[in-house]
Amino acid sequence: MEIEILDFDDLGSGLGKINEKVCFVKNGLPKEILKVKIVKENKNYSNCEIENIILKNKNRINPICPFYQECGGCNFLHATKSLENKFKIKKGEKFLGKIEKFYETREFNYRNKVIFHVKNGDIGFFKEKTNELVSINYCYLLNDKINEVLKLFLKNKDLNFNGNILIRVNNLEDSLVAITGNYKYIDLIKTSNLITNLIYNDKVIKGNSYFYEGIPDFKFKVSYKSFFQVNLDGLISIKIILESFLQDKNIRNALDLYSGTSVLGIIISKYVKNVISVEENKSSTDDALINKELNKINNLQVINGRVEDYIDTFKDIDLIILDPARRGLDLKTISYLKKIKSKYLIYIACKMDSLRRDTKYLKDDYEVLENYLVDMFPRTNEVESVSILKLK
Ligand SMILES: C[S@@+](CC[C@H](N)C(=O)[O-])C[C@H]1O[C@@H](n2cnc3c(N)ncnc32)[C@H](O)[C@@H]1O
Repeated sequence: MEIEILDFDDLGSGLGKINEKVCFVKNGLPKEILKVKIVKENKNYSNCEIENIILKNKNRINPICPFYQECGGCNFLHATKSLENKFKIKKGEKFLGKIEKFYETREFNYRNKVIFHVKNGDIGFFKEKTNELVSINYCYLLNDKINEVLKLFLKNKDLNFNGNILIRVNNLEDSLVAITGNYKYIDLIKTSNLITNLIYNDKVIKGNSYFYEGIPDFKFKVSYKSFFQVNLDGLISIKIILESFLQDKNIRNALDLYSGTSVLGIIISKYVKNVISVEENKSSTDDALINKELNKINNLQVINGRVEDYIDTFKDIDLIILDPARRGLDLKTISYLKKIKSKYLIYIACKMDSLRRDTKYLKDDYEVLENYLVDMFPRTNEVESVSILKLK
């Protein structure tokens, strides 16, 4: 059957109608006429796949990656980057309102971290929402140093290896590889110059369990179990947004909630009198304490714990940075945010839906001053947003 694609849906699929029923067409682009087949029929909508393109959007391109259709890691390789950007900005405007600026990062090879799954020696990613492995030998999103390490494992394939391989690289030529599972060539890959730090089933067998990462003005210790932003240029954009906002604000007490290795707390420390970071992951807060020393910060306190267990202890706060995981904030934290009445909130979200939901709860108390988008995950349908809110 034929369908005209009217727009993108919120996840970047094509949106159209067949007999007045909404259809989501995987990889469909606006203004296209497509021959599609229904793959899942629901009460109010259908999911479709393209059989044939009758009229093509001029921004449709051939996906650069041979694994694109199966892997599910990217969603936009069938469109030009400029069309992807338009989708992201339009979604930002729909969810958040006016967007001050869209910070681009490099289109490919930006990710500094990956976790590969391994099944009987095959290495790759799980197909979306399944445990079905899609074997790959290159990923365009990954830093090329990670792709080189991947090749090393592919050259030394162990058919009995089941588990996973975490690979991290920094901008100082180091790599950190953590293997879970029994891998018979471990002694061989240990000798490779491509791997500077090797952890095997939680035991360090070469180098250290961490390395250092740098951005302008700062250096951070990052252990293999700690959180760190996967796109360094994206992090630098967030730094620019925070610094330019805080320049003239005279903040006394600030909170850096969901703080990872306290990167944001450290960035803002020179603009505030005191800052407290709260993070539940112990490896990240242990690194944060080192990062505090490394960067000679003496007005930062680091708390290891859950935000919801500490939020009711804070008083007299002027600024709160919120950078939660994809699920966003819990209701207790939201209700205390209303009570604390911090002058400013800066909410950084990797999932705009959560940000939109949480700011709805806060809308009686806070007004949005500025929204920014940071293209933290190019060639996917995800975009990081930074919203600055002011107490009414
Ligand atoms: C998106 S990361 C942000 C990290 C940090 N702001 C940065 O930019 O490097 C979210 C962090 O929240 C932490 N986290 C998730 N739920 C939490 C909770 N309930 N309380 C405290 N930390 C939590 C995760 O461990 C993760 O480090």
